[in-house]
Amino acid sequence: MRAAVLYEVGQPLAVEEVELDPPRQGEVLVRIAATGVCHSDLHYIKGDLVMPLPVVLGHEAAGIVEAVGAGVQSVQPGDHVVLLFAPACGRCRYCAAGRPHLCEMRLRVRGRMPDGTSRLHARGEDLHHFTCVSSWAERAVVPESGVLRVERDLPFAVCALLGCAVTTGVGAVLNTAQVTPGSTVAVFGLGGVGLNVVQGARIAGAVTIVGVDMLEHRLDAARRFGATHTVNARRDDPVKAIQDLTQGGADYAFEVIGRAATVRQAVDCLARGGTAVAVGLPPAREELALPGPAFILNEKTLRACFYGSARLRHDIPRLLALYHAGRLMLDELVTAALPLERVNEAVAALDRGDGLRTILEMHTA
Ligand code: APR
Ligand code: ZN
Repeated sequence: MRAAVLYEVGQPLAVEEVELDPPRQGEVLVRIAATGVCHSDLHYIKGDLVMPLPVVLGHEAAGIVEAVGAGVQSVQPGDHVVLLFAPACGRCRYCAAGRPHLCEMRLRVRGRMPDGTSRLHARGEDLHHFTCVSSWAERAVVPESGVLRVERDLPFAVCALLGCAVTTGVGAVLNTAQVTPGSTVAVFGLGGVGLNVVQGARIAGAVTIVGVDMLEHRLDAARRFGATHTVNARRDDPVKAIQDLTQGGADYAFEVIGRAATVRQAVDCLARGGTAVAVGLPPAREELALPGPAFILNEKTLRACFYGSARLRHDIPRLLALYHAGRLMLDELVTAALPLERVNEAVAALDRGDGLRTILEMHTA
C-alpha cells in the first residue's frame, strides 16, 4: 500500500510503498477513506514534539473495516468506523474511573502496537505507528478499542474530524471546563480545533465568545461558528481586549495554539475565579509559567485537556446527534480535499493557516 513516511524531522514526507501486516488478535484492518491534517502531526514533522522515527503520521481518520483479527467483536468487514487515537484497555484504573482517554496503554504503546511490535515496514526496517492510528496511508491496522462504528451514510470527512478536531475542541468545553450557560469565554487560536471550541461554547450557552487569532479569515470563520467578538492578536493586545469585552475578564479561556506565551495570555485574561484550559500541545522545550500571586489571589484555575477529556464511545454519538440536529457545523470545517500523494502540500497549507481543515481523501470503491 501507499503511505506517507516521516524519515527525518523537517524533511518532506516520503509517499511510498509500505508493507502492512495483517491484523493480529484483537486488531482491525481499516481501509482509510479520509484523514485530516492536524497541527499535532505538524508538531512532530517540525520537531517541536519528538517521537521515534521513521513513522507514519496521521491520527484523525475514518474508513471501512476490511478484515478483523481473532476475537474482535465490535466491528466486522464493511463497517464504517471513526479511528480513535487513545486506545483503551478497559481494565486499568483510569478506564475503571470513567476516564478511558487517560488509559495506561497510551504510555506503553509509544510508536508501536499495544503488543510492542509494528505492522508497518519499508526499506527493510520497521516503521513506527503514531498513536496506534497512522492514517496517512491507504490502510491501517489498529487495536479494536481504536475504532468506533458509525452510520454508513455519513460523509467520511465528517467522521474523520470526529476522530480529533471536533471531539477535542467541543470536549474541552463540555467535558474539561464544563462551561455553564451565560458564561463568557475566550478562545486563543481558531484553527481546526479552536473553531470547535468556539462552537462548543455556543452549544454550552456561553453569551460572550471572544475568538483570538492572527489571521483575518480565521476570525471571519469564528464568527460563523459562534464567536460574538473577535480580536486580531497581530493588531491588538488580546488580554486587554478580552478584559474590556467581558467587563473585567472571561470566566473561561481556551488555549488552542500550543505555545507557553498564549497559555499565559489565557490565564491573564480570566476574571477572578476563572478557568483556563490548555488544549494546544506546546513544544517539548517550553515550560508553562504562571504569575504567582495574581494566580493565587484571584483563585484562578489552569487545566490541561487531552482529547477533549472524552469518553469517546459516549461522546462521539452525541456529537453526531448535534450534527444531525444542525447545531454542530462539521461539513463547513472541510475547506480542501487532496489525495495522499499531495500530503506535503496539505501540511504546508496547515503551516500557513490556509483554509480551515484539509482532508486527505483516498479512493474507496
Ligand atoms: N495568537 C493568536 N493566534 C495564534 C497565535 C498567536 N500568538 N499563533 C498562532 N495562532 C493561530 C494560527 O493562526 C492558527 O489559526 O492558531 C491557530 C492554530 O490552528 P491550526 O494550525 O489549524 O492548529 P490545530 O490543528 O487547530 O491545532 C491547534 O491544538 O490539538 C492541538 O496539537 C494541536 O497544538 C495544536 C493545537
Ligand atoms: Zn489532532
